[in-house]
Amino acid sequence: MRILAINGSPRKGGNSEILIGKVFKALEAQGFETELYQLGGQAVHGCRACGACKINLDRRCVITGDPINEVIEKMIAAQGIIIASPVYFSNVTTETKALIDRAGYVCRANGYILKRKVAAAVVAVRRAGALVTFNAINQFFHINQMIIPGSTYWNLGIGGAPGEVEADTEGLINMENLGENMGWLLRKLAQDDATR
Ligand SMILES: Cc1cc2nc3c(=O)[nH]c(=O)nc-3n(C[C@H](O)[C@H](O)[C@H](O)COP(=O)(O)O)c2cc1C
Repeated sequence: MRILAINGSPRKGGNSEILIGKVFKALEAQGFETELYQLGGQAVHGCRACGACKINLDRRCVITGDPINEVIEKMIAAQGIIIASPVYFSNVTTETKALIDRAGYVCRANGYILKRKVAAAVVAVRRAGALVTFNAINQFFHINQMIIPGSTYWNLGIGGAPGEVEADTEGLINMENLGENMGWLLRKLAQDDATR
């Protein structure tokens, strides 16, 4: 089973990626395959509200030339999905928002393609706005009928400069625990599918 993590931070190797790495470590220890996709830093368009995805029903957004369709395909292929974003002015990054809006419309228009995939939001924050950002990502998961495992706190790591989250012991433990819970849930769902 494959877990895809989408890093919405333009800072490759920064705090969001470090947090994803901790979740991945716990998942890999349980035998899951992991893939990190670097969305942040790529040029993306926002949703044009054209409604073409509701007419075309081809699991794609009509806007081409940016990575959103590639990410949609990767999400469809994965069993577990992590979307990570740093807090930017108390919300997700532009790249993350473009993904939420466009993948959200495409996946819902095409019969809820992400339904019952296991999903988790991960947030890197210097000081404030983590829960708004966490909620913004979780609302995407929720309206797509995805299943969200919990952890010991809300999934955030505290740090400003790249690498600073390494000092947030509680945040790192939360990520490890999130990976364990995500893996546990994925295994249970797979067992349930196998007995049907
Ligand atoms: C444009 C911009 C806006 C930011 N806004 C906030 C904010 O509202 N609250 C906050 O705590 N940190 C804010 N930060 C700091 C980042 O969230 C923080 O440095 C985070 O750890 C970056 O994660 P990364 O290394 O994965 O990019 C902002 C940073 C940038 C560049």
